[in-house]
Amino acid sequence: MTEQNFIPKPYTNSIQQGRYTWSSPSNIALVKYWGKKKDQIPENPSISFTLNNCKTTTTLSFSKKTDKEAFSFEVYLDGEKKESFKSKIETFFNRVEVYLPFLKAYHFKIETSNTFPHSSGIASSASGMSALALCLMSVEKALLGGSVIPSVVEESQAETYFIQKASFLARLGSGSACRSLEGDLVVWGKSEAIEGSSDLFGVKFPHQVHEVFKNYQDTILLVDKGEKVVSSTVGHNLMHGHPFAQERFKQADKNLKTITEILKSGDLDAFIALVESEALTLHAMMMTSMPYFILMKPNTLEIINKIWAFRKETGSKVCFTLDAGANVHVLYPENETNLVLNFIKDELVAFCQKGQYIVDKIGFGAQELSIYK
Ligand code: DP6
Repeated sequence: MTEQNFIPKPYTNSIQQGRYTWSSPSNIALVKYWGKKKDQIPENPSISFTLNNCKTTTTLSFSKKTDKEAFSFEVYLDGEKKESFKSKIETFFNRVEVYLPFLKAYHFKIETSNTFPHSSGIASSASGMSALALCLMSVEKALLGGSVIPSVVEESQAETYFIQKASFLARLGSGSACRSLEGDLVVWGKSEAIEGSSDLFGVKFPHQVHEVFKNYQDTILLVDKGEKVVSSTVGHNLMHGHPFAQERFKQADKNLKTITEILKSGDLDAFIALVESEALTLHAMMMTSMPYFILMKPNTLEIINKIWAFRKETGSKVCFTLDAGANVHVLYPENETNLVLNFIKDELVAFCQKGQYIVDKIGFGAQELSIYK
């Protein structure tokens, strides 16, 4: 598949107005995406668990306008107008217009809400951009009379194509968003280890996965809910000319191959070593950028040390990962749920802001909630 495959055939239906709703989950990377080329092309492949409870629901209402001069849209978060979201969406519309040529023909109202607490430090860009991309795909499907696939793609691929194009569009909004459409494991970025993998969109992990990873748990400890000192976009850019960048990209590529084996064998010790090393390497890249920055907080380190001590004491297979922030994702197999939740309550909650944490687990992707189709 190339970019050209995502340019639609001419629209056949004329639609005055409509409304679609999609809900899309967040995801947590095991092998991290950090560093990108032009047009949101990742420097290395990444893999994530799709989450189940941390979700964004977006309703996109659209009505035909007379001019086709400029984009016209308004954005609401939990019913409140959000001017601050507009520039990110404007950039997104500019990037995807060639693939969605109807964008300037309509006025859009984007109404969005998250299941996770407002400004919890949990990035809503992955779930948000994925939900918006799906709503836009529903509009396109209607404009094409139900089938979105271009003639170069076989009819039997219709369902895959819809999700693939949505993932392709979501990537142009926010890289990690392209891993939020399906579950329970998604790979984004070309890798020899993953057949069908692409830099353009996420694909479901195609290999066998050991039972122990089924229903894997992720409890997110909210350590710091403040504004990030450096955004992901700025952080990615600091990988250009970074002294360790090329080694890091090679390492991620290798780690993706290794985790493919681990997911098959169910070797949890190897899983822990790889996932924790990825998390700390991500933050090491931040600390060794120029300018350098630190997104972890003292309590992030307290939690990491407690997890290591607990593992040593009990033999538990609990581990942590981090995204671009101070919060800690605590990962563990389903059969350790009681053990780890008690450990969190007894020893880790004290390090969370206002004692807050979110119990989540791996999930299976986005869902359409539209009443009218
Ligand atoms: C650390 O997807 O938020 O979470 O493409 O600039 O929107 P943009 O960046 P974003 O970066 C996420 C980075 C990460 C690791 C990951 O999810 O793989």
